[in-house]
Amino acid sequence: MSKRWTPESWRNKPVLHMPTDYPDAAELARVEDELRAMPPLVFAGEARKLTSHLAQVEAGDAFLLQGGDCAESFKEFSTDNIRDTFRLILQMAVVLTFAGRKPVVKVGRIAGQFAKPRSSPVEEIGGVELPSYRGDIINGMGFTPEERTPDPQRLIRAYNQSASTLNLLRAFAGGGYADLYNIHRWTLGFADDGAGAAYRELADKITEALAFMEAVGVTPETHPDLSRVEVFTSHEALLLNVESALTRLDGSTGEWFDTSAHMLWIGERTRQLDGAHIEFMRGISNPIGVKCGPTMTADDLLPLIDALNPNNIPGRLTLIGRFGHDKAGDRLPGLMRAVKAAGKRVVWSIDPMHGNTLKAGNGYKTRPFDRVMGEVRTFIDVAEAEGVHPGGVHLEMTGQNVTECIGGAQAVTEDDLSSRYHTHCDPRLNADQALELAFLVAERLKAGRQARSEAA
Ligand code: PEP
Ligand code: CO
Repeated sequence: MSKRWTPESWRNKPVLHMPTDYPDAAELARVEDELRAMPPLVFAGEARKLTSHLAQVEAGDAFLLQGGDCAESFKEFSTDNIRDTFRLILQMAVVLTFAGRKPVVKVGRIAGQFAKPRSSPVEEIGGVELPSYRGDIINGMGFTPEERTPDPQRLIRAYNQSASTLNLLRAFAGGGYADLYNIHRWTLGFADDGAGAAYRELADKITEALAFMEAVGVTPETHPDLSRVEVFTSHEALLLNVESALTRLDGSTGEWFDTSAHMLWIGERTRQLDGAHIEFMRGISNPIGVKCGPTMTADDLLPLIDALNPNNIPGRLTLIGRFGHDKAGDRLPGLMRAVKAAGKRVVWSIDPMHGNTLKAGNGYKTRPFDRVMGEVRTFIDVAEAEGVHPGGVHLEMTGQNVTECIGGAQAVTEDDLSSRYHTHCDPRLNADQALELAFLVAERLKAGRQARSEAA
């Protein structure tokens, strides 16, 4: 791999999953120039801070919660939607922190998660073939030639939507909404049984603890951290023209940062060692993730780690397994063992969504919740057996009460899928399902903590 890197050096490498059918290449180039002149969405110092939090995860002293939409869309963009996703992240983090007694690093798949790799470049309906939908940042979902033609102006609209989303997130995080004293108000919208009830019980305990702390003088006035949280943003770095246009030199350190998000990840379909995506990602200093699917071998993984994190910086690299509930137990141990034996400092996280997608009898793409839970359980079992910290989860989820994944305490059935199926790409966990999953992980973290303290 050549040493020389620039934000544009990826252009000399083979690139997969980027659209090549813009009708007007000159217009695309003009839009890329426009993006190069736009303000950064995030700052180098924030990305650096996330790296240091992830280094804590790597050391086993924190847990990573990463989640949000499969694909953000122009149509579903609303204050309520963003607030509900933010609230769900907070609720899950509370559950995980309370049980695990460790800080939770909160990273949304949000404010830039628009572009999708697709298994087929074309879609056929009733004998008509059109380009596949690739996310609102590229083309439209409607099955017409006009909608499916890539439009460069969508890049600007996605940038603007990301900026507004981030602005709102920053306000929620620092402006009082995230105040722990509001913990009961975050329960609105939850069912009265299942995970919702368990959450209320936990909120009661935290409220009691806060009252005790207040009595001994620990209040939001003396400890402002009680009333604000840190939330970071992330998305798949698929459109390298957009990512490189938003990449800026940090004057104070001479490092390059992709300012489109705090954390970026490389998808399962674009992780070729000699490909454009690895070339781009190796040069930015943000914390980055790599998806590891069922075909990944240790011989694939170790060179990728060396290319992306040659200095073995803790917190720089998160490996996100996404094997499928029936494959994780077979594939994960070898990878974890090889990485550990090579002394590589990485965070291990699990994406229990992308290996567990299937088509229901009625044609809807769905994910059985028990398989999602099963892959998370296997991840924790394997990590514990290998002496590796099960560092995090990576989820497609929404705060809305959708019916996209089947199962869960509220038992979404195949027949329910059509009633509230709003996703623009893959099926997401709804708020109850996501909270149920957080309780499962929390119980396991708690058991691990108790086992460790008994052994000590
Ligand atoms: C995703 O996270 O949206 C995705 C496409 O995942 P993967 O690359 O693991 O298939
Ligand atoms: Co997805």
